[in-house]
Amino acid sequence: MQTSGKRLHLEKIQEEMHGKSLRIEKLRKEFGSLVAVKDLTLEVKSGEFVSLLGPSGCGKSTTLNMIAGLLEPTSGKIFVGDQDITEISPIQRNVGLVFQNYAVFNNMTVYENLAFGLRVRKMSNDQIKTEVNKIAETLELSDILAMKAGKLRLDELQRTALGRSMITKPAFFLLDEPLSNLDAGLRSQMRVELKRIQRELKQTILYVTHDQVEAMSMADRIAVMSQGELQQYGSRDELYSNPSNRFVANFIGSLSMNFIDCALIEKDNRTLLDATDFQIDVTKLAYVIKKNVSNSELIMGIRPEDVEVNTQRKTEDSIQSEVYITEPIGPKTVVTLSIGNTKIKSMVPETFHTKIGEKLWTNFNIDKLHIFDKKSEKAIF
Ligand SMILES: Nc1ncnc2c1ncn2[C@@H]1O[C@H](COP(=O)(O)OP(=O)(O)O)[C@@H](O)[C@H]1O
Ligand SMILES: [Mg+2]
Repeated sequence: MQTSGKRLHLEKIQEEMHGKSLRIEKLRKEFGSLVAVKDLTLEVKSGEFVSLLGPSGCGKSTTLNMIAGLLEPTSGKIFVGDQDITEISPIQRNVGLVFQNYAVFNNMTVYENLAFGLRVRKMSNDQIKTEVNKIAETLELSDILAMKAGKLRLDELQRTALGRSMITKPAFFLLDEPLSNLDAGLRSQMRVELKRIQRELKQTILYVTHDQVEAMSMADRIAVMSQGELQQYGSRDELYSNPSNRFVANFIGSLSMNFIDCALIEKDNRTLLDATDFQIDVTKLAYVIKKNVSNSELIMGIRPEDVEVNTQRKTEDSIQSEVYITEPIGPKTVVTLSIGNTKIKSMVPETFHTKIGEKLWTNFNIDKLHIFDKKSEKAIF
């Protein structure tokens, strides 16, 4: 009697928590003198797909494990909806966890794998059947329910692992690099699948990855982390167009941004960014730049697609350059240019033909220029 009362209570908590928002406040984890996660604050709204993105070792898994309750935080709080779950057990948190090495029982059928979480909850066989069939349909597993998990293809295995988690109606999902074992083709297929399933079920997801393509293609918002610290949290457009610092600017985008050391100077009533090998006229931006610049040592950043090349001199400001190397990448070509000792990448349509050593005129799209403080690496424009 008492146990079933307890179970009912647990089910009630879990029902209430389904599809809730997730909030962490100043979450911190120290391993001895190493601060793996540094006072991380982040909110994932109900039904939102958020990606925690950063290079290997930056503290992503540690963060996820604290949210799941597998690792005790040094300090900080975790909320689901308005409920503080920092102190409650992993089971009561009702988290859907999917790791890189999927926790699937190989010698059990897909059906039994899916049913597992419900059997643990002592659901009746009829109810289990209904729930398993429902989830199998969503994940397109209906035809392979009788197969042993050990015989599955990787994508089927992946969907089974997801299904096992989903069937218990978790409050939210935590996924830790779940696609990194797959080859490129399957990975892009699973990205599409995962996004579709998430939209359909309106699940709250926190998805950890070191792959910016994955984050950019799936997430509503992306939290970029480096060395345990949150660098920026925003939509893909915000991160791409307005990176808050050099790290984010460099990490986001399939082609890295060009970074060039420079200084702000005044010459003949004009304001210039002086990069030694060339100068960029930023007179029309002078007011905004000067308002924010406190340091004379700067870095200008420009994405390859914002560097234009022409065979003819286009404007007064066109800079002379020489083709160093060309790399065709699908419908585009990346041209690396030499301007004195400076190398700059430009992205041109594949129909633009050029060759090594050709002299070209280069123009920077000033509206897309970024300026960083060289010391702090923070974006100042
Ligand atoms: N149990 C542990 N004991 C000591 N150091 C750890 C432990 N777990 C992780 N770390 C360290 O914490 C940092 C963050 O690790 P992790 O969260 O796994 O990074 P990520 O998932 O982003 O690759 C790394 O420097 C790692 O070596
Ligand atoms: Mg990890």
